[in-house]
Amino acid sequence: MVAAACFGVDSRLHDEIARPAAERGWRLAITLTPTAHRWLKTSGEYDRLTELTDLPVRSESRLPGEPRPHPDPATFLFVPASASSTAKLALGIADNQALTVLCEALGNPQVHVSVCPQLSETQAAHPAWPSHLATLHAAGALVTPVSYDQPWTTVLDALPVAGTHQP
Ligand SMILES: Cc1cc2nc3c(=O)[nH]c(=O)nc-3n(C[C@H](O)[C@H](O)[C@H](O)COP(=O)(O)O)c2cc1C
Repeated sequence: MVAAACFGVDSRLHDEIARPAAERGWRLAITLTPTAHRWLKTSGEYDRLTELTDLPVRSESRLPGEPRPHPDPATFLFVPASASSTAKLALGIADNQALTVLCEALGNPQVHVSVCPQLSETQAAHPAWPSHLATLHAAGALVTPVSYDQPWTTVLDALPVAGTHQP
């Protein structure tokens, strides 16, 4: 699971995504963008997330001599996905740990990738936005927008059934 710095992520990620996913049987490997990490650390949501998983909640790359802290997930859920990070994913710009794991998963037919952008009308009006969505669709990603005023939990329904989608 990957989360970016979108409105509400600092208060909704645990209750609307992470805990319901854990309750459905998912083992959570959570990676945050650097900005989302800062927001969740400040709000206290980061500590709540760590209680849902045996794996570290990460936002930074490992050192070259360190072991990889997460297994390779068979399913990626990127929610909420900011306009910025969604654009970088479509372009293959892996300039932080969250985008590194997403860029490596996108295009791998063995891996399910769900991307859930949350953005304003002005952000969606960027001339490159339609082509970013087209790239993600062509790569086989499931794109399911989320919004500021609707519960995010419904995006879990579109994931493969936990425990049945093996790498
Ligand atoms: C309070 C606040 C709320 C924001 N909400 C959103 C949002 O819902 N969607 C979005 O695309 N960007 C939003 N932004 C802008 C992103 O945080 C900004 O583009 C940031 O660089 C995204 O970084 P990240 O994708 O690496 O997490 C918001 C910014 C602030 C300060």
